[in-house]
Amino acid sequence: MSTAAKSHATQSISYADLYARWERGHWLANEIDFTQDRIDWRERLTDEQRHAALWFMSLFFHGEDEVADDLSPYVTAAPTEEQTYFLTTQQVDEARHSVFFTRFMHEVVGLGDGTVGSGLEATKLHLTWGHKKTFENLAKVADELRHDRSKQKYAEAITNYMIIVEGTMAQPGQHLIESWLERTGLLPGFFEGLKHVANDEQRHIAFGMKTVADLYQEDPDEIGPIIVDAIRKSGTFLVSFAYPDDGDSTYLDSLGISLTDLYADSMRALMSRLRGIGLSDELRAKALTLDTSISFEEQGVRVMRLLDAGYLGPGFRPTSKDPEDLELLWEMLSYIINANAKVGTVVQFEFSDVGAHHYSQTPDGLVYSAGAHPSPSVSIKSSLDDFVAIVNERSNPVKLMLQRKFWVSGDRGLVVGQRSVFGPATEAAPRRIPVLSRFGL
Ligand SMILES: [Fe+2]
Ligand SMILES: [Fe+2]
Repeated sequence: MSTAAKSHATQSISYADLYARWERGHWLANEIDFTQDRIDWRERLTDEQRHAALWFMSLFFHGEDEVADDLSPYVTAAPTEEQTYFLTTQQVDEARHSVFFTRFMHEVVGLGDGTVGSGLEATKLHLTWGHKKTFENLAKVADELRHDRSKQKYAEAITNYMIIVEGTMAQPGQHLIESWLERTGLLPGFFEGLKHVANDEQRHIAFGMKTVADLYQEDPDEIGPIIVDAIRKSGTFLVSFAYPDDGDSTYLDSLGISLTDLYADSMRALMSRLRGIGLSDELRAKALTLDTSISFEEQGVRVMRLLDAGYLGPGFRPTSKDPEDLELLWEMLSYIINANAKVGTVVQFEFSDVGAHHYSQTPDGLVYSAGAHPSPSVSIKSSLDDFVAIVNERSNPVKLMLQRKFWVSGDRGLVVGQRSVFGPATEAAPRRIPVLSRFGL
């Protein structure tokens, strides 16, 4: 069994201290004064800013409600009293966050009748495909935790909730809104509440990092791949959560926020969380299916290009067949193939509309080239659109197979199981990668 390096960042955190910080950090969502906010909303914000702010705030409002709903199985699955007590404080926090957003929507924007349900109903039209998928996944994992309280499931659930949803998706976005409000002095009540929310989230994320770090250090071979899998599974949805369904990525320009910056900040945050947990360099690189040698800013640009090209996300626009975009797609596919495959292994993607590329494992690593290989070890055939739909969980691969639109041929052992070229995350604990497990194999 391998040992994991102890992370200084999480060692200095204790569950008792996190609880004490909660007691000291009380604030009252019902006491926030929205008088100036009402004036600002009507008179000082432009139409574009109102539109963008309402859209972005709705994503966070619904997020707060979802996390409040999904936390109870965590409370019962927690292995120690200290963790249980902290999680009950978090449940109160999430409800308070939701009340704060409900008040803002009702008293400032004029939506709903002041009840949480009516506020959610009035804002649900702003939810994106990526947002819905992210929270469907969170609810599914929470439900699984209800029936399976093993440390493996607990590690997966905490990774999803505190590391991915709170630490990677919500917090960087909240910081961008905070900086807009700080720069402009607009909506002072909302700004004050949001700062309290951010302090609470800081504690929640610290709890998640501490818990996952402890579980990982206890059993790195078992827990490491679980963390990596959780991140890889949610990656597609995660990058799409703030991407509008109409594909207009300039949506937030009026707030001085760019989606590319948001992606860069999210990836920077995720990397720092994983480092804080003590995850090895190798596993950190596997968790992110992009080139980790380039800057976060450049990664943000690439994610945006993958979304704009229709390779990631909701699929409301045609998939790009532009050669420059396709180059990015071929590169993306290289990150989903396990670099530990035996030398000589060849994985081929044959897309009826844009041609074939094959990926060969050489003594120097994985190399890929255009064109078909005479005898690939594994071959995946379909149209590009069908393949992209499977990757983004918009099409059922089994159905496509029955319709003779999707084929996987070659060495079955390389597609699934111990020798899979699409896993394992580590030699000791084989895992299939989500893309291929979605093929129903
Ligand atoms: Fe929250
Ligand atoms: Fe939270």
